[in-house]
Amino acid sequence: MDYLPLFLDIRGQRCLVVGGGEAAARKITQLLEAGARVTCIAPGLCPAVRELAEAGAVSHVASRFMPEYLQDAHLAVAATGDAAVNQQVSEAAKAMRIPVNVVDAPRLCTFVMPAAVETSAVPVPGPHGTRFGAGADEVTERGVVHLVGAGPGNPDLLTLRAVRVMQQADVVVYDSLIGEGILDLVRRDAERIYVGKRCNRHSMSQEEINKLLVRLGSAGKRVVRLKGGDPFLFGRGGEEIEALSSCGVAFEVVPGITAASGCAGYAGIPLTHRDHARSCVFVTGHLKDGTVNLDWEALARPQQTVVVYMGLGSMPEICRQLVRHGLPAATPAAAVQSATTDGQRVVTGTLQTLPDLVAAVGLASPALLIVGEVVKLHRRFAWYSPGPRAQAVPSASGAPQDPQALDPAVLQLMQRHTT
Ligand SMILES: C[S@@+](CC[C@H](N)C(=O)[O-])C[C@H]1O[C@@H](n2cnc3c(N)ncnc32)[C@H](O)[C@@H]1O
Repeated sequence: MDYLPLFLDIRGQRCLVVGGGEAAARKITQLLEAGARVTCIAPGLCPAVRELAEAGAVSHVASRFMPEYLQDAHLAVAATGDAAVNQQVSEAAKAMRIPVNVVDAPRLCTFVMPAAVETSAVPVPGPHGTRFGAGADEVTERGVVHLVGAGPGNPDLLTLRAVRVMQQADVVVYDSLIGEGILDLVRRDAERIYVGKRCNRHSMSQEEINKLLVRLGSAGKRVVRLKGGDPFLFGRGGEEIEALSSCGVAFEVVPGITAASGCAGYAGIPLTHRDHARSCVFVTGHLKDGTVNLDWEALARPQQTVVVYMGLGSMPEICRQLVRHGLPAATPAAAVQSATTDGQRVVTGTLQTLPDLVAAVGLASPALLIVGEVVKLHRRFAWYSPGPRAQAVPSASGAPQDPQALDPAVLQLMQRHTT
């Protein structure tokens, strides 16, 4: 860690901002929102800062920076646009042991003001136009449930809105695909309730989850219901808001990046590349009574990309049915595991070869199946190198990244089926 995450209480404290331009205006706004008393040192002011100074929200000293101005300052921000002055502010503040932030110069800072932290203290509009939650410790009069899409696993792919509400939550109710990196962004004091699947058993039924959300929302809590990907795509988000709305509990839906977008983006497979696909369909390969019940005629169309969620276990059956209903056995297909994370693995082959390749490398859940000519583009566009936890995996349409790591049986399969 380069920095220790901290939340500073600067209400009523004198904070110094050196500079009077747009960058200074942004910093001043953040400091004012956190309740600071701001002194701005600058020979001239941009309209935004002048307006604040004229309104009495900021004390303005029309001068160049001098170290004496740092006396009694709780923290300092250098935002002058002049590197030499910014450096002078940084050095003077450090010498006086005053925390200092310098715009666009992380090496001169002793603290940073990241967007997510900056915005967490800002009152945000609630659902249905209401306002709620001005600060982490403020209790809302009326509970609200934020149904938040947490994306495919990489915390960097959360939306700003998701992080905002996560930082204001009293309670977070989360599923099994939500990793530690994402949970780390939830307000530290929030209660955490796990409702995902463990060892193939739901720790809570959907009905129980619905009741829990209604109970928490009715008790006046700010609830974040964290779901993998997007809450409305194979995520039962519709059922949850149905329960909330019928009980009069306010809710908000925060869309997330769905697994199909995460897998396609990070595997370099443009789902609707114009040269290869005119349509793209998302289906679930979830087995019901041991069979996959899909409209195979509609799926086995040329120039179409088919994305199958929850299709790992049923992959042999899905590939078989697509061929039986008219797609060539040589149609390119890919399976992507844990997309967007350090554990991402991509296996490519054809409808004929993919199930064996996937079994041979032991691909595990969560994994997504992509079928269609667009899969061929992976060879050219695979840009993402997962971290050290990922294992090298074969690509039947390309060279393996690390042949040393491959099982000989997999190599044999690849040699037999290379497209
Ligand atoms: C119950 S569905 C939830 C889908 C989620 N609501 C979404 O929009 O992505 C879970 C399935 O999504 C897919 N999935 C989710 N995250 C994934 C990831 N990081 N990599 C590959 N597949 C993923 C897998 O097919 C998994 O079985």
